Amino acid sequence: MSDSTGNFYLQDTFLLWADRQPVPMVKDFGIDLLKIEVAPWDIFGVRGAICELVGGDDYISTFLYEIPPGGKSRVLNHIYEEVTYVLSGHGSTKVELPDGSAHTFEWGPNSLFEIPLNLKYQHFNGSGSEPVRLAGNSNLRFIMNLFRNERFIWDNPIPFGERLGDTSYFSGEGELKPVKPGRHQWETNFVPDISNFELKRWDARGTGSSNLRWILADGTIGCHTSAMPVGTYKKGHRHTAGTNVYCVTGQGYSLFWYDGDKDFKRIDWHHGVLYTPPENMFHQHFNSGSIPSRYLAVQMGSTRYPLFAVKRQIWDQGVDTSIKDGGNQVEYEDQDPRIHAIFLEELSKNQVTSLMGDVIDETPYLSKA
Ligand SMILES: [Fe+2]
Repeated sequence: MSDSTGNFYLQDTFLLWADRQPVPMVKDFGIDLLKIEVAPWDIFGVRGAICELVGGDDYISTFLYEIPPGGKSRVLNHIYEEVTYVLSGHGSTKVELPDGSAHTFEWGPNSLFEIPLNLKYQHFNGSGSEPVRLAGNSNLRFIMNLFRNERFIWDNPIPFGERLGDTSYFSGEGELKPVKPGRHQWETNFVPDISNFELKRWDARGTGSSNLRWILADGTIGCHTSAMPVGTYKKGHRHTAGTNVYCVTGQGYSLFWYDGDKDFKRIDWHHGVLYTPPENMFHQHFNSGSIPSRYLAVQMGSTRYPLFAVKRQIWDQGVDTSIKDGGNQVEYEDQDPRIHAIFLEELSKNQVTSLMGDVIDETPYLSKA
């Protein structure tokens, strides 16, 4: 940081810029984006806040944008990618293409989209009475630290026509690109509702598990949605830092631990909560509620453009291969017995029945109850 030593030691241009912004900066391990305070943010023409997830990486930053009833953002274009997740409210976005034509698409809660790189766009709140809250997940942090020039970022004329995709991608159409379980891709620019989009089975990650990778605007920010049926949970695993996770539907909790830890760290979540598993920390997601649960994960690098050797390795093999076989996943039969005990206790609070009996012998747990 810049301080009395001058501007020549440990500078983080993004954090210096963030410190100058007139909006709250919220730092926490888990952040409820529907509850945090916002303030006017003139450069975007909306209200907002900057979120700093403890344990996050140096590539992706999360901005909360609130558009007041009847309000709109500025007309914006920028040289960073941003995946927008609609937390609440209804509205629309107008996108201007390099040939001068325009597309407008309407979104609502749980819509997900990315404007192709550097296109001009403007968001509108479609309601006269309710505010809109959008979560912007961008690589601005990385781009700003790399180039250190705001005009290059927000006033750059270079078009990226190769990233537009089919024009139907702006109206919610897309194309399935089958790969293999856990890596199947849906290519588009806009998903109207990730809470009810058909996912594909991914049995290797857990009982009833399903998933789909979103390839938005041919970008390098990777995102995917996974689902857990009622009465189930995923297998534990670990990977590099920087996978930011939003609860989309349902309620539950996640446990976090490093090898040798005596206790688990825990985050309880519901729609609006954002958190991130720290670097190579084991973590495991549990649906303890009475409806199916989905989450959205966003990170630097995608299954199409992994960017990093470690991500190529993880998505090729490591993400759903047992640690016994050189991967990063803890199979149900290898997990700490306290994990299932906590799950059953949480289910009983919510009067939900476990569906894990086929993969875990629950007799010892039930006899202790
Ligand atoms: Fe994970």
